[in-house]
Amino acid sequence: MPRHFLTGAELTAVELGALIDRALEFKAAPLSSDVLHRRSVALIFQRPSTRTRVSFEAGIVELGGHPMVLRTDDLQLTRGESIRDTAYVLSRHVAAIGIRTGPDELVSEFAEHASVPVVNMLTSGHHPCQALADLVTLRETFGGLEGLVVAYVGDGNNVARSLAELGATAGMSVRLASPRGYELAPVASALVTYDLPAAVDGASAIYTDVWVSMNDDPESAAARRRALAPYQLNDRLLDLAAPNAIALHCLPAHPDEEITAQVLYGPRQRIWEQAENRRHAQKALLEFLVSS
Ligand code: CP
Ligand code: NVA
Repeated sequence: MPRHFLTGAELTAVELGALIDRALEFKAAPLSSDVLHRRSVALIFQRPSTRTRVSFEAGIVELGGHPMVLRTDDLQLTRGESIRDTAYVLSRHVAAIGIRTGPDELVSEFAEHASVPVVNMLTSGHHPCQALADLVTLRETFGGLEGLVVAYVGDGNNVARSLAELGATAGMSVRLASPRGYELAPVASALVTYDLPAAVDGASAIYTDVWVSMNDDPESAAARRRALAPYQLNDRLLDLAAPNAIALHCLPAHPDEEITAQVLYGPRQRIWEQAENRRHAQKALLEFLVSS
């Protein structure tokens, strides 16, 4: 059975720690592995992407491999071919398969039938590749993750869930502050609260994400913006956190909506580092999965 990465729950704490170490090694020496030499990795995008696509593509080339980007219309899936048959055929050609889509069940079904590792590149429920890179960013900023307090503020979405789940595996203390109706269902050991000042009090990092995700109903956008407005990540909120607290955002951002432009482009953020760390983290992940 291949190792998959669908939610991040597949990793033990030891494996997660090793992946973070390896990602930081890749950051220091980007061309230090040829693990994908002359092999292809299929990247199926049924939703738009900037960072995920670019970081996977560039990272696979750095590992000596060939990234095969497949957009929705490229596949017979759009004409009714089953997920099972698609998984069977792709598995005969490539070393691993990444999928970005809506339903989590689609990725699980793919993994059930694939004989090579399957990676979740974002679903409505999870974004584990993002969380892996976020842990790399936190590790390189603070030196360790055990006991680190991170507050996520805003919409209780896929990014929040993966941060809470992988953060728990790493021994972090994750707090999630959302307005009523937008909170995450209890997850891992994370604290879910409506109390924004309490959530950020003493936190080393405050993390936010968009208020309208790509798998959300666009019709709900206005109501979401109204409800989530008090949860904006701004300098006043950062002042309530630990001294030298950093701001994080998975991007894409809407400046002056969920995060102020001042924070997004200011000295207290590690957001652009986060975006870079996607490549290093995913290289470590691919190396681990194809070697397992
Ligand atoms: N953070 C992230 O996954 O960005 P993209 O949607 O651009 O891939
Ligand atoms: N929550 C966002 C993350 C984008 C990377 C979305 O799903 O659209």
